[in-house]
Amino acid sequence: MKQTTAVLLARRPEGVSVASALTLGAIDLPELTPGLALVRNQYMSVDPSTRGRMDPGEKQYTTNFEIGGPLDGSAIGVVVESASDLLPVGATVRHRLGWREYAVVDDKLATVCDLTKAPVMSWLSSMGQTGFTAYAGLIPVGRLAEGETVFVTGAGGAVGSMAGQFARLLGAGRVIGSAGGEQKCTWLREECGFDHVIDYRAADVRAELGEVAPDGIDLFFDNVGGEQMVAALHNMKIHGRVSMCGAVSNFGSQDQPSLAELIEVVLRRVTIQGFIVRDFEDLRPEFEDRVSGWLASGDLVDRATVFDGIENAGAGLEGLLNGANLGKALVRLSD
Ligand SMILES: NC(=O)c1ccc[n+]([C@@H]2O[C@H](COP(=O)([O-])OP(=O)(O)OC[C@H]3O[C@@H](n4cnc5c(N)ncnc54)[C@H](OP(=O)(O)O)[C@@H]3O)[C@@H](O)[C@H]2O)c1
Repeated sequence: MKQTTAVLLARRPEGVSVASALTLGAIDLPELTPGLALVRNQYMSVDPSTRGRMDPGEKQYTTNFEIGGPLDGSAIGVVVESASDLLPVGATVRHRLGWREYAVVDDKLATVCDLTKAPVMSWLSSMGQTGFTAYAGLIPVGRLAEGETVFVTGAGGAVGSMAGQFARLLGAGRVIGSAGGEQKCTWLREECGFDHVIDYRAADVRAELGEVAPDGIDLFFDNVGGEQMVAALHNMKIHGRVSMCGAVSNFGSQDQPSLAELIEVVLRRVTIQGFIVRDFEDLRPEFEDRVSGWLASGDLVDRATVFDGIENAGAGLEGLLNGANLGKALVRLSD
């Protein structure tokens, strides 16, 4: 029986201090039966939903992790042994068995990635679920129209940096973001083409939005929830739309605003739609065509913060929850 090193959940964490709740251990790899392939993972994605899945109750849209069991999540790697015609040795494949160095993947649950369309790391960021979430949130959910004013929270993160850039490339009139700290704000303005970025740790977001979007926000793409969501609701246009992608502020703070603030939705006749990216699979081919074109033309900045080695995977997740990472958070598992 072959084994691999994996990240295991040692105990359920409190708040955003997650690294100490994880440990490394050996897990068994199944035998290769028809339809399976052994993949040497190169990179894995670090996602806020991983934190939700460490809790016992269903908070996210997938399964919860068991104490003593391995974590999982998106990863990309190279097929080194195969019992599947669809996953030949040498192919680069994306699958759901990250948080381990090697994985035995089912060909029905893995996709071969064409590295002529995008570099390997982009298949987990702009060309992966991250970019696809931004795309779904803007187009079918947000119904973005040309010339509109868009506000994106968590703009310095993976989904947010894509949402703001995609909005610009899709013809938004004004793209405003919010992020924590001057470094992220400067990067978003100078490299990602945001028109204005609010440092939510230093500024009064509600007041600043009123100054930079005096006519109101048409489309609010929310990754964060909490106080920033309230700030945006007070600055929506009449009949504005909210694309509710996530609420990462839930993990860190006990101090959530009152639901009474939702009266703004009534007063401004706002439409709020939550969404889960996997409901939009039919859009994936058009999404990949568009994004690979933007990458090739140099119109899209796809930046990652990369942690080296499986032993630093917990630090990567903690960095994501603390706001230390710029762009997409990835862990390099092998060369
Ligand atoms: N609906 C879906 O299908 C779907 C799919 C994927 C992801 N998501 C959601 O999309 C959101 C973004 O995910 P991601 O992978 O791109 O993560 P990410 O934005 O790269 O990382 C999270 C970021 O949130 C910010 N943050 C953390 N705590 C905060 C707080 N209390 N207040 C304000 N900002 C805070 C941090 O940046 P700062 O430095 O700016 O604080 C951090 O970098 C998450 O809510 C996630 O759950 C939804």
